[in-house]
Amino acid sequence: MAEERGRVMTASDKAIVAVANRKGGTGKTTTTVNLSVEWARQGWRTLVIDLDSQGHTGLGLGVDGAANPAATVHHLFRDPAVPLETLCSRTEVEGLTVCPADPGFDGQIAGAVDPFLLRRCLEQADAPRFDRVVIDTPPTSGAALLIAFVAATGILVPSPPDFLAAEGIRQLSQLFYTVATRHNPDLTRFAILPVMHDPRLRMHRTVMQDLERQFGRTRMLRGIRTDIKLAEAFGAGQPIQVFNRRSRGGLDYHLLAEELDAAWSWAPAIKKDAVHEIGSPGR
Ligand SMILES: Nc1ncnc2c1ncn2[C@@H]1O[C@H](COP(=O)(O)OP(=O)(O)O)[C@@H](O)[C@H]1O
Ligand SMILES: [Mg+2]
Repeated sequence: MAEERGRVMTASDKAIVAVANRKGGTGKTTTTVNLSVEWARQGWRTLVIDLDSQGHTGLGLGVDGAANPAATVHHLFRDPAVPLETLCSRTEVEGLTVCPADPGFDGQIAGAVDPFLLRRCLEQADAPRFDRVVIDTPPTSGAALLIAFVAATGILVPSPPDFLAAEGIRQLSQLFYTVATRHNPDLTRFAILPVMHDPRLRMHRTVMQDLERQFGRTRMLRGIRTDIKLAEAFGAGQPIQVFNRRSRGGLDYHLLAEELDAAWSWAPAIKKDAVHEIGSPGR
């Protein structure tokens, strides 16, 4: 069972990552699926939440929210007190649970949305515990984006390195500061993930240097190179780790999971298997 795989988290080492970019087609869903599968494979109890009602994240993990709208994260908008576990489904990846999206959700919400809607659900006293939570968000700036930021401890912005990237990232960094200062003191990390980049292209290198100058070196991650295998894996309905783990994309997502763990230094890297390694003689 997932609960037996990781260690118990304390409030200080929560890792809840919202993957955001208000433009479509910037690798949010690809990043959500492959990062979460990577973390689950590394032994972390991982939850994926698909706040984008297109539902691609759930589908990418073999779970279709259309089959049971009451078992989707969007059901929270209808019943804010519903227990987290009734919204979740297991996936075929060991240790990976998903709260899929409801493709029938049309964004019409009666009354004002409580920004703490998702956060409260994750913090319910008897909710299942996870070491890593990854939230996919829609390419809009509505209620779904706000509730994701209020629930998160870190924001990850996947962005292809084109000349218009900076403007979109700046808007998200403003939302990050607003939410971090007004609503959510646990929100302390913000990182830019260059995706679909080709290190051989001078234009890509220039844009990445510009972003580094504007947002700070520590905010720039190594990135995910362009790899057609990532698109093919998505088309085949499989995470890259299953489709072709040794591909460039598979390697880059593997390194991203490790880079985030190191750069954002959440929990010390003590997984069940690692405890033995660290404690064994001679180490
Ligand atoms: N690193 C990459 N290399 C090649 N294709 C990619 C890469 N990342 C994403 N894609 C493809 O780009 C398209 C948009 O990605 P997606 O993750 O759906 O973006 P978003 O969720 O932001 O709309 C998809 O067809 C996906 O397969
Ligand atoms: Mg998407």
